[in-house]
Amino acid sequence: MSKSIYPPRRIKSFARCAGRMTPAQRLAVESVLPQYVWSKDTVVDKPLILDIGFGMGHSLAWQAERYPQFHFLGAEVFLPGAARLATLLQEKQLSNVHIAYGDVVLLLQEQLALHRLAGVQLFFPDPWPKKRHHKRRLLQREFLDLLLTHMQPGAFLHFASDWADYCLSVRELLTSCPKLSFEKPLSAIEAIARPQTRYENRGVVQGHEIEDIVVWLPQ
Ligand SMILES: C[S@@+](CC[C@H](N)C(=O)[O-])C[C@H]1O[C@@H](n2cnc3c(N)ncnc32)[C@H](O)[C@@H]1O
Repeated sequence: MSKSIYPPRRIKSFARCAGRMTPAQRLAVESVLPQYVWSKDTVVDKPLILDIGFGMGHSLAWQAERYPQFHFLGAEVFLPGAARLATLLQEKQLSNVHIAYGDVVLLLQEQLALHRLAGVQLFFPDPWPKKRHHKRRLLQREFLDLLLTHMQPGAFLHFASDWADYCLSVRELLTSCPKLSFEKPLSAIEAIARPQTRYENRGVVQGHEIEDIVVWLPQ
């Protein structure tokens, strides 16, 4: 049998991309979002923090407002969420955020130079609670290896979740990675404070315990 010429289909960490949009959201996609779109040639002169899966963008806008010394790059596959964040940025007149609408894996592979990131945030990623769906969880060995090629010396990786077994597997994964340390290297930047996110709030209501895990690359 001849081999397929196509690359193997990648397992997706997300279920929905677009969904139905209101007229206001459609307008934001057409007229506001383009002002914030990230491209390979985008130049930023501040430490760059990648926020993966920002949802509707409220926590990222909160951070951007409080931390003007950083530049944030938000990646999200959910178009109404990208449009919402763009609208929030315009309302708050924030210029230290860019948006990468699409799969973060493609962003990292095609639109971002290596060793560019001073920090990576992954707050409440889709938990894929059923065992047979665990392979769809984003933070696993292969994705971690990709992230590591983009992190600068001293960069942090901040993961938060309300799913105990996801936290356990991430802790094991990070512990087994000799490149990462649970101690902040001297003069590396601290992970950035975050507000309670929308998905965190849902977890709290369901009585879940929240865990934040932060690791650094040595300098
Ligand atoms: C459970 S929500 C969490 C949203 C937000 N961080 C919060 O805490 O409220 C996870 C988000 O990650 C996004 N997502 C999942 N896989 C992604 C990927 N490969 N690239 C970009 N975004 C992704 C989903 O669309 C979804 O909005």
